[in-house]
Amino acid sequence: MDSLPVLAVDPISIAIGIGIGLLLSFLLVPKPKPVIIPVNPSIEKENPKVGLRCTVKDIEDLIEASPKGKVSYCRCWRSEKFPYCDGAHRDYNAECKDNTGPLTIVKQE
Ligand code: FES
Repeated sequence: MDSLPVLAVDPISIAIGIGIGLLLSFLLVPKPKPVIIPVNPSIEKENPKVGLRCTVKDIEDLIEASPKGKVSYCRCWRSEKFPYCDGAHRDYNAECKDNTGPLTIVKQE
C-alpha cells in the first residue's frame, strides 16, 4: 500500500500568496462611490445653469448705496436674498459642519 505524498509547506510562499491575494482583493473590489449632493438645493432649479453677470460699476453702486459700505454675495446657495448673503450660511454650516461664507466686497479706503 502506497503512502500519501507529503506536501512541503514553504512559509515564504504562503506569505507571498496571501500578500498577492490581499493586493488583488484591494485592487479588484469596487470602491463605494461618494454620495454627490447638489450644491444648489433650490435656486432657479428650472435653469440648467445659474450664472451671475454684473459690471464693476454695478458693484460700486451697490457698495455706495450700502450703509455699511460693502456688498456680500452668497456662496452657500441658501440665501433667501440670493445672490446676496442673508446670513443663512450660519445655520447651514452648523447643520452640515461646513465652513462656507460670503464673498464680501468692501469699498477701498
Ligand atoms: S447666506 Fe450664503 S453665504 Fe451667506
